[in-house]
Amino acid sequence: MHLGVNIDHIATLRQARKTSYPDPIIGVGQCLAGGADGITAHLREDRRHIHDKDMQQLAAMANVHLNMEMAASNEMVGICCDLKPAACCLVPENRQELTTEGGLDVVAHQSRLHSVVARLNDAGVRVSMFIDPETAQIEASHAIGAPVVELHTGHYANLSGAAQQAELARIDAAARLAAGLGLVVHAGHGLTLDNTADIAAIEAIEGLNIGHAIVADALFKGLTQAVADFKTLMQAVRAQNAGSQN
Ligand code: PXP
Repeated sequence: MHLGVNIDHIATLRQARKTSYPDPIIGVGQCLAGGADGITAHLREDRRHIHDKDMQQLAAMANVHLNMEMAASNEMVGICCDLKPAACCLVPENRQELTTEGGLDVVAHQSRLHSVVARLNDAGVRVSMFIDPETAQIEASHAIGAPVVELHTGHYANLSGAAQQAELARIDAAARLAAGLGLVVHAGHGLTLDNTADIAAIEAIEGLNIGHAIVADALFKGLTQAVADFKTLMQAVRAQNAGSQN
C-alpha cells in the first residue's frame, strides 16, 4: 500500500514567520527514509504554504514520486503541465477554508473537468479526482477519463462510534465500486494513527495521502519516525488481511 506524505504543513510553519526554514525540501529525505512512497504538496492559489519554488524543486527531484495537489484552474493546470509531476490530484479550493473541506463536484463540473483531465493526461500526468465517497462522483470521474480517484476521509475522521462505522462502510462500498470500474483508488484527509487502520484495511484502496498528523507527530518524534509509524501500521493491517484470507 502506497503512502504519500503531504509536506504542506512544514511550509505552513515556515510561512508563520516568513522565514526560509523549515524547508519542506529538507523534509523529503526524512519522509523517504521513514518509508514514504511518494510526496504530496498542494500549491494553493493563495500560496499560503507551498510556493512555486518548492514545487519546482520537488518536481526536479528524480527520486521522488510527486503528487501535485491543486485546484482545476487554468493557472494550476498550466503549471502542472510544465512541471510534469508523476501525478496530480484535483481538489476544490476555497480561500476562506482552513483545509480542503469537501470533495470535488465532478458531476456538476463534468464538461470543464473533462477538458482539464484531457490536458493533464496528454502531459503524461496521472490525474486523481478528490471526491466524496459517492456513486455519482465516482461514475462521473470514470466517465471523464480520470485514472485515479482519492476518496475524502475527512468526514469519517470527524465522526465517532456508529456514525463513523457507517461512513467507513460508505467508503468501503465506494472503493469497491471505483476499483470495479478499473480506477486506482486512493484515500486521505484527517487520518491519524488512531483512525487509519480501518481505512488501510479496505483492500480496494491502494494508497493513502497523509499530512497534518505526520507533521504534528514529527514535532515530538521526528519526521522519519512519524512517517515510519504510519507505514508500519499500514503494512501490519495489510499483512493481517492477507493472513485472514489464507
Ligand atoms: N488528500 C487531499 C486531497 C488533501 O487535500 C489533503 C489535505 O491537504 C490530504 C489528503 C491530507 O490531509 P491531512 O493533512 O488531513 O492528512
